Amino acid sequence: MNNRAVITGLGFYVPEEVWDNHRLGKIVDTSDEWIRTRTGIVTRRIAGKDETTATIGANAARAALRDAGVDALDIDLIIVATMSPDMPFPATACFIQDLIGARRAAAFDVSAACTGFVYGLSVASSMIESGLARHILVIGAETLSRIVDWTDRNTCVLFGDGGGAAVVSKDGEGGTIIDHVIHANGASADLLYMPAGGAKFPATEQTVRDHLHYLKMTGKGLYKEATTSMASVVLEVLKKNNLTINDMDLLIPHQANLRIIHSTAKKLEISPEKAYVNIQKYGNTSAATIPIAMAEAFGDGSIRRDSYVVLTAFGSGMTWGSTLLRY
Ligand code: ACO
Repeated sequence: MNNRAVITGLGFYVPEEVWDNHRLGKIVDTSDEWIRTRTGIVTRRIAGKDETTATIGANAARAALRDAGVDALDIDLIIVATMSPDMPFPATACFIQDLIGARRAAAFDVSAACTGFVYGLSVASSMIESGLARHILVIGAETLSRIVDWTDRNTCVLFGDGGGAAVVSKDGEGGTIIDHVIHANGASADLLYMPAGGAKFPATEQTVRDHLHYLKMTGKGLYKEATTSMASVVLEVLKKNNLTINDMDLLIPHQANLRIIHSTAKKLEISPEKAYVNIQKYGNTSAATIPIAMAEAFGDGSIRRDSYVVLTAFGSGMTWGSTLLRY
């Protein structure tokens, strides 16, 4: 395992403002009971007016740097996973580079929606293993409250804002990245997408009138894809490394819906307690759910020494993937 990359620091940041389900009931026709029973979400954080994906990501990055004991000037590369970038270009990673003073670092964004952090970790660990970098910041950050349609009860109740970050290093104490598996299926792209604002449908008065600059989702289709793909990719990464589900000590799944997490656990034939859950507090923060959950799991002792931890995610694209870690 000598040349494998290590996660040497974790950190997260969520905006101060907490919106509970009752508050959403004043915006759209919904109820606390519906949201809790169908999704497991109780509260979510909403960005303040001066906050953006870059400021949220920068706060998470500072926390991860502190945790790792690494100076911003020692970072060689910043990878930001997001589907709510500050702007279509430049990359939000460049804004974060400036905000945290990581002047030596190259910077780019990964567009793989909720699987973005897992995709980002796979790029980071490959670059570390090949000797191209010594310390890389991988950040998942979102301001989804700015791209959800607050008139659409089918989607606006599901999402929240927040960011998480990991320092991935050539050596040090922490979680060794053993392996990863990433997949995509562009044929299912229409299950979750934002139609306008790009080259296909540039902004016009009509696209704004038609609410095409907001996230569009086919919930039922995604639900089916999610439960199948998250479970299968966990087994794939374990099998690739001659491990079985019994070797896995903790699963950190993307937090999209509590029922999806429980159904994934059932498919894997593990007890629900083996799957880390914090969706009740933050809702679905897309690329940020896994690094936020990792930071919390590390902080509360759920990630223990000498354990195998598996990350698993799915998202728009469709994309899905898993990371195998040894702590
Ligand atoms: N409040 C009250 N009623 C609602 C709400 C709401 N917020 N939203 C939908 N409903 C209604 C629907 O209109 C429907 O009413 P009808 O039967 O009169 O038509 C009824 O509730 C049932 O709707 P369903 O869509 O069948 O509800 P379901 O049990 O499938 O749950 C949900 C919907 C929560 C969206 C579920 O399908 C899901 O979680 N899907 C996956 C979503 C997901 O994971 N998205 C993100 C993935 S990728 C990423 O993270 C970026």
